[in-house]
Amino acid sequence: MKLLLHALIFVLLTLSSTTSLETTRNEDACARIAIEYQISNKDPEFSANFTDVKECLESFPYDKGIAESTIETIKKTVQGFFVYLSKVKEEPQQGFSFRGVDLIKEMDELLLNNYTSEYQFMSKLSILIKELKDAHMRFIPLCYLSAFIYSQQLYLYSVINNNDEQIIKIFDDEIDSRHNDCEVTHIDGRPSMEVIKEFADSTLDISKDAGVRFNAALATLVHNETDRIISRSSKFTLRRNLDFLPEKSSTEYSLLCANDEKTKFVREWKIGSKYYDRFNTSEDFHNEFCKIKRTPTIASAKFSKIFEPIIYNEPMVECESVYVTLMATFYILSDNKTGVVAVPTIKPSDNDYINQMFELQIGFGLLEDRGVTKIVLDFHENGGGYVDLALFFVYLLFPDASPSFDNDMVVSELSRATFEAASSESYVVQAKKKLNGLTMPPPGSDTKNLMTWAAKTVNNIIGKTSFFNIFGFLDPNTESRFQSVEEFIGNNTYVRGGTTTSFTSRFVDRYAQEFSLFVKLLAGNIKEYKWKSEDIIILTNGFCGSSCSLITHRMAEKFNVSTIAVGGFKDVPLSYASFPGSQVLNLEQIFFALNDIGILQNETLKDLIPPPFMFPAELRITLKEIYDNVNKDDILEYAYKPAKHRLYYDEQSARDPSILWLKAAKFFS
Ligand SMILES: *[C@@H]1O[C@H](CO)[C@@H](O)[C@H](O)[C@H]1NC(C)=O
Ligand SMILES: *[C@@H]1O[C@H](CO)[C@@H](O)[C@H](O)[C@H]1NC(C)=O
Ligand SMILES: *[C@@H]1O[C@H](CO)[C@@H](O)[C@H](O)[C@H]1NC(C)=O
Ligand SMILES: *[C@@H]1O[C@H](CO)[C@@H](O)[C@H](O)[C@H]1NC(C)=O
Ligand SMILES: *[C@@H]1O[C@H](CO)[C@@H](O)[C@H](O)[C@H]1NC(C)=O
Ligand SMILES: *[C@@H]1O[C@H](CO)[C@@H](O)[C@H](O)[C@H]1NC(C)=O
Ligand SMILES: *[C@@H]1O[C@H](CO)[C@@H](O)[C@H](O)[C@H]1NC(C)=O
Ligand SMILES: *[C@@H]1O[C@H](CO)[C@@H](O)[C@H](O)[C@H]1NC(C)=O
Repeated sequence: MKLLLHALIFVLLTLSSTTSLETTRNEDACARIAIEYQISNKDPEFSANFTDVKECLESFPYDKGIAESTIETIKKTVQGFFVYLSKVKEEPQQGFSFRGVDLIKEMDELLLNNYTSEYQFMSKLSILIKELKDAHMRFIPLCYLSAFIYSQQLYLYSVINNNDEQIIKIFDDEIDSRHNDCEVTHIDGRPSMEVIKEFADSTLDISKDAGVRFNAALATLVHNETDRIISRSSKFTLRRNLDFLPEKSSTEYSLLCANDEKTKFVREWKIGSKYYDRFNTSEDFHNEFCKIKRTPTIASAKFSKIFEPIIYNEPMVECESVYVTLMATFYILSDNKTGVVAVPTIKPSDNDYINQMFELQIGFGLLEDRGVTKIVLDFHENGGGYVDLALFFVYLLFPDASPSFDNDMVVSELSRATFEAASSESYVVQAKKKLNGLTMPPPGSDTKNLMTWAAKTVNNIIGKTSFFNIFGFLDPNTESRFQSVEEFIGNNTYVRGGTTTSFTSRFVDRYAQEFSLFVKLLAGNIKEYKWKSEDIIILTNGFCGSSCSLITHRMAEKFNVSTIAVGGFKDVPLSYASFPGSQVLNLEQIFFALNDIGILQNETLKDLIPPPFMFPAELRITLKEIYDNVNKDDILEYAYKPAKHRLYYDEQSARDPSILWLKAAKFFS
């Protein structure tokens, strides 16, 4: 009886709130979403209607003033600090594919058009920036990208078939498992390979290499001890990391299944949100997501499993797991002589990088104890993380040499003023004081305590000055500090993209210096392993970005470690890493630094300072570039570095990484 009463009250409530909203139903698309959500009784599996979502996002009119101010912010930021602003105009080196973009000119041109909505303008601007194919460089208008995510509820992959042709197959269909492992011959009536390549080239910015972008459109497994998880990539069928609304409400897949059976089906996008109960009208939507406010929008307690990792747990038959840490899993393969270290991130979830340094030593120690003679380092789908941890990873296997590459920054009117202000007298005095603060190591410490002490000491000495303080950088030729801003700025102009541009002298970054001090303090306390560079091989699908590429580029370039890339396009070489960049800053960090050193308050510089965004948005730019270690004048971000060896997935190795690892181990001569 009690239950029934509850149910009755609930029905009444639902009805009354529905009717009160009913009036707005026809004209307000955001309201239609809210009503449908309420009618579904806040079903965690609720999926909004595609047309409603599109109309809701497009319901905010284009405002030329906001558009101009947005472009002004981006322009002044990139003119002040973006190290590749001239370089992005150049056409790619052989092996890469992208379009040279005159960013300033093309942003100005965007303002010459009319737009039916603000959404349309923001997506055009965001796509222009994605054309730079630098995953570090981002403009994210949160208003339009944070509320919804989109899933086809199926995942695709690519293999080479028996006729030696590259094809697309269904990795996993969550709705109809009969489709699993069928070949997808056509998508919306066009050859599937072509459709996916086109999608990856036009919307993904993960790499300058089209093969890596192709991989990022498809599914791969990332793994840890307990689970193998379908990766966050799979972008063709899963748009969840701040992606725009897909172009159409559904996709048609033409399949060729076992016994030559042909079939077709149409799949709608499932549209999930953590915020379905955070708005009833478009006005609410605007207030929640499109206005700058103090308190961030809180996710609802109930939201769909679309947000959960997709766990795919078939057993791995050719390996045994030996040790698991928050950034790596250590395995021994069934050949009993090859160890595998699978490293899907350089950012442990507890953010304790010192502990990870310790954990890595335990893992490698266990491999050595078990008599492992060869090591496969698997960096699939690794988006990077801590620079210190990356440098430590290199150091563990190659303790003899300094892993630093040369950096520089662009010299603009604003950056020059910034170097000067950040390096003013008071800062030098502070830095010198810190040098005197060197304490002695705690007596009788174990390795872990010693490492914590060393990290703290390094941080006290080097770590706290402004990003722009030039006294923090070393001249790579003399290995001593720059003596003045003039010396640091030097006289270095290079013609890039047809524009003569000034850059600072090349320097050794603070990270690298911190690190050399760190290992000096630890002298003799880190075990050396017996593996040589020929005993180590790197395996990636090309998505090894940021501080992951810092590891792989240094191991490959400085220490001659061989590389294998998997996937990509058949018979086309594939990069083993992406977006090496160097230091990246977001607009908040830039404002913070400029405020700290008095630049924001300086009236004479007023016209050079970017105005803040008028709505919630994130802008990230690459501040420093690093140079190639082989061709010293090549910028690493723009240098095409294909892996020495290639592998392709097959039906077994795509599902069981241990089979792929055994194939990788065959490359040890
Ligand atoms: C979405 O709503 C529109 C009308 O607003 C309707 O024509 C369409 O069929 C709906 N789509 C789905 C998938 O329900
Ligand atoms: C944009 O719209 C305005 C007013 O509707 C019109 O005057 C102008 O010519 C349009 N500009 C372009 C480039 O279409
Ligand atoms: C492995 O992944 C699952 C699913 O995301 C997670 O719950 C678990 O904590 C992870 N385990 C480790 C050791 O990282
Ligand atoms: C939407 O309407 C419901 C029911 O009338 C109400 O409880 C809720 O607070 C409203 N949400 C917002 C964001 O106004
Ligand atoms: C590896 O070692 C296990 C026992 O430790 C043994 O059963 C297996 O046959 C060995 N495999 C090879 C390829 O030597
Ligand atoms: C403002 O910036 C200019 C240019 O860098 C500099 O010469 C001047 O000293 C600064 N003014 C103050 C008050 O810091
Ligand atoms: C800078 O270099 C150019 C050519 O490399 C030279 O002509 C010029 O005099 C130099 N300027 C200074 C201030 O050293
Ligand atoms: C690098 O390794 C290759 C074999 O993979 C070898 O032929 C070459 O001599 C090595 N180069 C250096 C500089 O050690």
